[in-house]
Amino acid sequence: MVTMEAAPDFTPMLTANLGKAGAWTLDSYLKSGGYEQWKRAIGGGISREAITDEVKKSGIRGRGGAGFPMAMKWGTLPPDPKYPRYMVVNGDESEPGTCHDRFLVEEDPHLVLEGAMLCAYAVNSHRIFLYLRGEFGLGAERMAAAINAAYDRGLLGKNILGSGYDLEADVYRGAGAYICGEETALIQSLNGYRGITRLKPPYFPTTVGGGAWGMPTVMQNVQTVANLPFILKMGGEEYAKIGNPAPAGPGPAGTGPMIFSISGHVNRPGNYELPLGVTVRELIAAAGGVLGGKKVKAVIPGGGTSAWLTADQLDTRMDFANVPAVGFGYILGTASMTVMSEDVCVPHCLSKISYFYHHESCGECTPCREGGAWMYKTLRRVINGAGRPDDLSLLMDLCNNIEGKTLCAFGYSVTWPVRWALKLWPEEFEYHIREGKCPAGDHPFGVTDLTPAV
Ligand SMILES: Cc1cc2nc3c(=O)[nH]c(=O)nc-3n(C[C@H](O)[C@H](O)[C@H](O)COP(=O)(O)O)c2cc1C
Repeated sequence: MVTMEAAPDFTPMLTANLGKAGAWTLDSYLKSGGYEQWKRAIGGGISREAITDEVKKSGIRGRGGAGFPMAMKWGTLPPDPKYPRYMVVNGDESEPGTCHDRFLVEEDPHLVLEGAMLCAYAVNSHRIFLYLRGEFGLGAERMAAAINAAYDRGLLGKNILGSGYDLEADVYRGAGAYICGEETALIQSLNGYRGITRLKPPYFPTTVGGGAWGMPTVMQNVQTVANLPFILKMGGEEYAKIGNPAPAGPGPAGTGPMIFSISGHVNRPGNYELPLGVTVRELIAAAGGVLGGKKVKAVIPGGGTSAWLTADQLDTRMDFANVPAVGFGYILGTASMTVMSEDVCVPHCLSKISYFYHHESCGECTPCREGGAWMYKTLRRVINGAGRPDDLSLLMDLCNNIEGKTLCAFGYSVTWPVRWALKLWPEEFEYHIREGKCPAGDHPFGVTDLTPAV
């Protein structure tokens, strides 16, 4: 595991079990101090209110993309206990370049489970649904095995360890649709319907009518819940010292560790656990620097959804305040960085991202469904040397007609990278249109086009 110059005192926690033989088994997890916090909570060593208080003090914000403070979300549950409450772990992870949830469910499923159990207990829920992306075959197997092992040891089920508290957990697998990571679409899918989004407000998932089977539901990302055992072990205040605690919007800029997935033109792509608030430059260094010692041209900071940073923005701190401060359309998102070296052709890369979003649109909102396809077709024609002089204004027009005109934030995902690439690298699009060929010379991947026609 990397130790960074920028964070010499930081010891990875979420990935601490990485590489241990059979890390995903209950015995291995117990040996590393696993389920101690669960036993403490269930044994009355820490009350529900005290857990919520520690979470509040920790300042933790959700790792699934939106960065909503965890304790604040719990606070929106209705006080009336007459409705059952559900706890859903969002493991649908489909964002381009993002693979930290997959790593956690495969390598340390008991950590995810203990976090989910603590979350369920804190919000007084008796049912956990672990919703995993359909492609996570091994993850689903290991998560299910972890649940079974926890039942066998009496850590889940009825009257857990004589506490009088009951808690059940199940794994649900999606069918590979990106949109099912969005909370309302996930709930639809979990309830057996087609995974499409719906408008919030008024029915947010934590409200009566808004959650799974219409019941108040707390949904947290896999990595978010995995932090809970550590928050309780070290205490919220200690946890809040990790990262960047500067106040920003609804919570601190970014407390705690984050598993940064780093891909693209770096020497050692992979998952790197470091405190939130490290800079893009430091993360690139952690991943072994740029391939071939080349210069950086662009960096996607937060999964495919975010606008791209340029070479002069590498000192941007990766947290919930500093990435958005770059401009509208820049988000920390899943904190998954894709690095592009100086040889990259921006329109080509953009067309790949655009294809992804066109393909993954759930099709419910016309601007996203039709506009996304149109955007991809236009980009494809540009990179294939058949671009038209007015294609740049057409692309901008499409951005204006998709952005903010859809039920969920997916519409923004479709437009943000395109809008900013047109602004930052217009000459590359113009060259393609004017010359009918790529400004990067031969296509960096050795062929003209890898994306299918639509
Ligand atoms: C289009 C779209 C896709 C999303 N995909 C995911 C996902 O794969 N995993 C995830 O945890 N959150 C995803 N989210 C965010 C969820 O809606 C929700 O905010 C999150 O699961 C809440 O958990 P957190 O507060 O712990 O981050 C997505 C949101 C949108 C708009």
